[in-house]
Amino acid sequence: MRTKLIAGNWKMNLGKAESITLAGEIRQKAPKTTKSQVLLIPSFVHIDAVAQVVSKSHLLLGAQDVYYERSGAFTGEVSPEMLLEIGVSHVLVGHSERRHVIGETDAVLNKKVLAASAEKLVVIYCVGETLEERNAGRAAEVILHQLKTGLANLSHDVIAMGHLVIAYEPVWAIGTGQTATPAHAQETHAFIRARLSEIVSPELAGQIRIQYGGSVKKSNAAELLSQPDVDGLLIGGASLIADEFVAIIQAAEGV
Ligand code: PGA
Repeated sequence: MRTKLIAGNWKMNLGKAESITLAGEIRQKAPKTTKSQVLLIPSFVHIDAVAQVVSKSHLLLGAQDVYYERSGAFTGEVSPEMLLEIGVSHVLVGHSERRHVIGETDAVLNKKVLAASAEKLVVIYCVGETLEERNAGRAAEVILHQLKTGLANLSHDVIAMGHLVIAYEPVWAIGTGQTATPAHAQETHAFIRARLSEIVSPELAGQIRIQYGGSVKKSNAAELLSQPDVDGLLIGGASLIADEFVAIIQAAEGV
C-alpha cells in the first residue's frame, strides 16, 4: 500500500506574511490524515517561517529546488544540508519550469537527484512532455529519457527507503486549466511504473509513489486519486487557496 503524497508547490508566490497565514490556515483546517502525507513547498526564503508554523504538526516541508554540492563558492545556491537544518524533508527536482524556463539539463538534474537523496532528502523527480512533444507522438520517449537520465546511478537503497517519488506533470497541463483525464494519467503512470520496473526492479517499482500534477483542483482530485497508479498530487495554483487545498486533502482521505 503506497501512502499518497499531497504536495502544494507555491512556486514564486506569496510574501512572508501570506506564507505564514496560508500555512496556519492549512494547519488548522486540514484533517489529520491517515491515508496520505501532506507537504507544503514554499519559496526558499519563507521555508523557515513556514517551518515555525507547521512545527509539531502532521504537515511536512519541502523545497522547490536544491543544489548538488555540499558547500562552497556557488553563489545563489542552496545545499541539501542547509535544507535539512531548517526542517525540510522533501525536494522537487526537475520541475518543468526548472527544465524549460531556467534551462536545467539532464546531467544537472541527475546530480541533484543523487546529492539530495544521499543526504536522505525525499526527492520528487518531475517528468512530463510538452505539448509539441505530445502532438508529435513523442511523449513516451521523452518520459523514458527523463527517467533514465535523471535516475542514473541512483542507489536501490534510496528507493527501498521510500526516498524517491516521481511526479508526472504534462507540461501542457501545468497552469493551463487543462487537466489530463484520469484515464490519461493512469495510462501514463502505468507506463512509468513499467519502465521503472525495468530500470530498477519490479519490486522496487511497486513501492515508488507516482504523483500527478497539472491543473489539479478540488473538483478533479478525487477522480485522479482513484486511479490505481496515481499515488498523490503535486498542486500549484490550487495549493495557494487554503480551502481548495484542504478540500483536496480531504479527497485523498476519502479515496
Ligand atoms: P498547477 O501547477 O497546479 O498550477 O497546474 C502544478 C505544478 O507545476 O506543480
